[in-house]
Parts: sequence; structure tokens; C-alpha cells
Amino acid sequence: MPDTVIELDKLTKAYGETIAVNELSMQIEQGEIFGFLGPNGAGKTTTILMLMGLTEPSSGIAKVAGYQLPRQGIKIRRLAGYLPENVGFYDDMTAYQNLLYTARLNSIPRGESENKVTDVLAAVGLKDVSDKKVGKFSKGMKQRLGIADVLIKEPSVAFLDEPTAGVDPEGVKLILGLIRNLSEEKKTTVMLSSHLLYQVQRICHRVGIIAKGRLVAYGSIERLGKEALKGGDLTIEVQLAEKSESRALLEDLRSLPSVKDVHRSGSALSVRCGEDVRPLIAKKIVEQGAQLLEMKLRDSSLEEIYTRYFRET
Ligand SMILES: Nc1ncnc2c1ncn2[C@@H]1O[C@H](COP(=O)(O)OP(=O)(O)OP(=O)(O)O)[C@@H](O)[C@H]1O
Ligand SMILES: [Mg+2]
Repeated sequence: MPDTVIELDKLTKAYGETIAVNELSMQIEQGEIFGFLGPNGAGKTTTILMLMGLTEPSSGIAKVAGYQLPRQGIKIRRLAGYLPENVGFYDDMTAYQNLLYTARLNSIPRGESENKVTDVLAAVGLKDVSDKKVGKFSKGMKQRLGIADVLIKEPSVAFLDEPTAGVDPEGVKLILGLIRNLSEEKKTTVMLSSHLLYQVQRICHRVGIIAKGRLVAYGSIERLGKEALKGGDLTIEVQLAEKSESRALLEDLRSLPSVKDVHRSGSALSVRCGEDVRPLIAKKIVEQGAQLLEMKLRDSSLEEIYTRYFRET
């Protein structure tokens, strides 16, 4: 397996007049969890379909594990795990039977596959419903089964299109944990799409943000945050002991260098400023005889990314 597992070069897909994916270039390395983020209709699913060889690019290059798309699509579908946007299973078969079928398709020996199916169903939290027909599954249960279907295959590359869609908070935690394990323990390269930046960002090594078919940001969340914050303000959250704040303190804080605004809500203050003036704030609080319980810099970088790249495009 080459170091660069997924490679796109000016990849483009047009549906008639609509350019769904517009000259997308990026590279994803082995073992990396790459978050492919963007609002509805941005082109995420179309890109993944091209990388799985399920739809043909209009122009540009797509390569997975050294294989060229769409020509070597069969090879990629054999090695890659894929969670489609709308997971489909045999409705009148049970969860267990569906996964056993997947195991057989992937040439996993019968002796091994039964234990494996049981383990994987437990891992995604479907142990108790393994003998229930999938036609009677809820959206979230089907989604969990879709993840199980990818895990069974033990793929070296996985494309997960909105892996957390329709899943409850507990399930989201579970699924993100499983994806992280894939990368850490099996060195699986994972490309996952989502329109929920906040939900998936903590497991992604890097992200690409796509809007209207174009890549508008690409890199680690940390780097994107710094870029988005350039020229922006910081917010410092201050928690005082109850009833220890005073009008004089507010006035003092407002007069500190670079402070633009001080907002009070009960015994909590939020200070908007141009630079990190936490030491000065602490000093003023002590001088005014108030009691400081907690003070922290709000991590606004994600919010900035969200506003800048998602909402405005
Ligand atoms: N089969 C198709 N025929 C015509 N247009 C399509 C087709 N599939 C997608 N599109 C268009 O391509 C654009 C990108 O769609 P795509 O499904 O890739 O977005 P997405 O980022 O996956 O969105 P979502 O978050 O809603 O899943 C949209 O404008 C969509 O209307
Ligand atoms: Mg989609």
C-alpha cells in the first residue's frame, strides 16, 4: 500500500448543467482519518461515489491504493469498505444473516465468520437484536449495521458517507470510537463525510471542507482554526463566586488594553478582547476583592471555521 492512499487531482463531475464536484485536488495518507465536510448538496456523496468507482468522473484523476478510477473500480470495491448514504440490506433477513452474507461475499471462511459476525454485532451495540429482521430496524439501527458491515470486511481503506446520520448520541460516540480504532489499530485509511463539523472533528486528523463542489479549506482543524481566527477577537469566560462581582470591577475590566466588551450574566462574565489579557483580568478581580472561580479562553476556532466556511458559502 503506497503512503498516499487516496489521491484526487482536479477531479470533476458534472450532471448536465450542475457541476457537483469542481476540480477537487487532495491527498489522504495511510492510517489517516480524513473528515470530508460540507453543507447539504456540496458534493460529498458524488466524490465518494467516484472514489468507489460507482460513478464516472467528467474529468480529472482519482486513485485509491494506487488503482485508477473508474477503470480499476472492481479492485477498489474488493478492498475498500463502504458505508453508502442510504444503507441497504436484505429486509427479510436478520442482522446476523445479512452480515454472514457479507462475510461470504468477502470469502471469509465459515468457521471464522460466525464468531466474527457475533463480535461485530456486539461492537456496534446490536447484540440484542441480531435475530431481528432488518426490515423492522429503525434508521439508526440500520446505520449501526452499515458500520458493522464495513468492520466485517477489515478493509484497508474505508469510505463512510455520513456514518453518524440518524444515530443517537450514545451511538455517535460508539461509532466514532470504532472509526478511531480502525485507524489506530488496523491502520485503516478512513474518509468520512459529514455536515456536522462539531460532531466528527475530534477524531479527524485532517479535514477538507467542500462547498458548491469546491474545496475551500484543507488541513488540520488546528491550522484552519488559526487561519479563520486571524484578525478576529478572543472571548475570555470568567466565573466569579456568587455575588462577588461589582460595578467597579466591570468598569475596571472595560478599561483594560484591547478589551472591547464585557458582558455579565449572573456571576459569569464574558470578555471580548483583541489579545489574551487573562493575567490582567485576574489581577483586577483580586484588586476588587472579588473571588475568581474559573477563567478560560473560549475555543472559538471551530465556531469561526463553521461560520466562515459553512454558512457563508
Ligand atoms: N444523480 C444526480 N443527478 C443530478 N444531479 C445530482 C445527482 N446527484 C447529485 N446531484 C447534484 O450534485 C450536487 C452535489 O450532490 P451530493 O449528493 O454530492 O451532495 P452532498 O454533499 O453529498 O449533500 P448531502 O449532505 O445532502 O448528502 C447537488 O447539487 C445535487 O443536486
Ligand atoms: Mg451526501
